[in-house]
Amino acid sequence: MSPYSAPTAPRPPLRVALAGIGVVGGGVVRLLEANRDLIARRAGRAIEIVALSARDRHKDRGIDLAPYRWEDDMDALVAADDVDVVVEMIGGADGPALTLARHTLGAGKALVTANKAMIAHHGLDLARIAEEKDTPLKYEAAVAGGIPVIKAIREGASANEIARVYGILNGTCNYILTQMERNGASFADALAAAQAEGYAEADPTFDVDGIDAAHKLSILAALCFGTRLDIGAVTADGIRGLIAADIREAEALGHRVRLIGMAERDSAKNGGALYQHVQPCLVPADHPLAYVPGALNAVVAEGNFVGRLFFEGAGAGAGPTASAIVADIIDIARDEYGPAFAMPVDALDAAPVADAGARIGKHYVRLIVEDRIGVLAEIATAMRDAGVSIESFIQRGTDDDDGVVIAIVTHEGPARAIDAALDILAASDHVVGTPMHMPILAL
Ligand SMILES: NC(=O)c1ccc[n+]([C@@H]2O[C@H](COP(=O)([O-])OP(=O)(O)OC[C@H]3O[C@@H](n4cnc5c(N)ncnc54)[C@H](OP(=O)(O)O)[C@@H]3O)[C@@H](O)[C@H]2O)c1
Repeated sequence: MSPYSAPTAPRPPLRVALAGIGVVGGGVVRLLEANRDLIARRAGRAIEIVALSARDRHKDRGIDLAPYRWEDDMDALVAADDVDVVVEMIGGADGPALTLARHTLGAGKALVTANKAMIAHHGLDLARIAEEKDTPLKYEAAVAGGIPVIKAIREGASANEIARVYGILNGTCNYILTQMERNGASFADALAAAQAEGYAEADPTFDVDGIDAAHKLSILAALCFGTRLDIGAVTADGIRGLIAADIREAEALGHRVRLIGMAERDSAKNGGALYQHVQPCLVPADHPLAYVPGALNAVVAEGNFVGRLFFEGAGAGAGPTASAIVADIIDIARDEYGPAFAMPVDALDAAPVADAGARIGKHYVRLIVEDRIGVLAEIATAMRDAGVSIESFIQRGTDDDDGVVIAIVTHEGPARAIDAALDILAASDHVVGTPMHMPILAL
């Protein structure tokens, strides 16, 4: 039948079961109810929630769930004859989410998930089961929440060779950095504000240590470069080590500090090694990433024919995340799906891990040192001995007279040399606390 022709008989509704009715699951219920008619017209058939499951059947979730069947046992969603699609919104790389995902795909049913940790760790295994069973595995909401970046890269940019993908992949960190920028707040105060506003969990480890961004980066890298997902090859430095002076010095240098996940692949003739790293960076003030405020996310992908693509939007929250999930469900209703990572699992390359120490660039280095004679000479000597060439050197007293802040900008050189210089300086009795260094992005 032509996709343009009206069906001779209406297609049967697509029957959906939701597992996990928290922030995201609640958003999906609301969206499917609010936009029911429009969605049915776009999907060419009705999309019906037939069953739900979560931990506590009696919890008040602020929505009327009475119209839907409740299952205490999530496996009942998979076993039910009236369920076509299971939407996993539980979370966690392993445990009940993974069991449900495996069972759903294994039973030949479609799986939609918002779970970046699970996709980053088990995406290849799940994609393989989906291929064997010829059933969809969709995960738009797992990367950058409401931004349709998976679809854009997988479909819209699919003609391009992509050499680099990078961006702001964690809204909590971006909110904290924006607070530090606007109010001159310390990291601890900005984190407390993020927690009070509901942007950060009580235990913020996954966000502020870069782990959540690393999950999303590994998924983007696989899609962009046609490589096998390898979360073990992604390194992450979070934002805990930043102090208010770093934000001020970055601004004085015409930059802003952003937590950037960056994946870059060498050309095939240079070995095709893949670099995947999450770390705070100095972003030039004239780059669009410097203007991404608050809890937003943004992704940049550079294609060899399309040039630079820039995507920005809400990376989390009930509405934006539900928007991405329901778009996946609509695709399934239209029978529009293909390999989860744009090509069959066996066609994905196993890329060698790039030598991060060999990456050439300028760096920002910040030290707090005791205010005494000879310390500056000690720093200059350590830099020289490690082969780091200094472009600029700024010394300022700290607000609390705890020492002197030294902010250094280096000339271009290998990251390895900076590490070596900081190893020497970290051992010095005159350096207070842990030195900070950030690459200065040349974008
Ligand atoms: N929140 C966001 O903005 C956002 C954005 C993008 C992606 N995601 C991803 O979406 C997923 C869900 O996030 P969320 O924020 O909605 O989490 P949440 O609010 O904590 O909700 C989790 C849901 O899973 C249920 N659940 C947890 N453990 C369970 C278990 N062992 N058995 C059965 N049900 C269980 C909970 O049941 P009870 O309610 O009964 O306790 C709850 O309904 C995660 O993978 C997350 O990474 C979230």
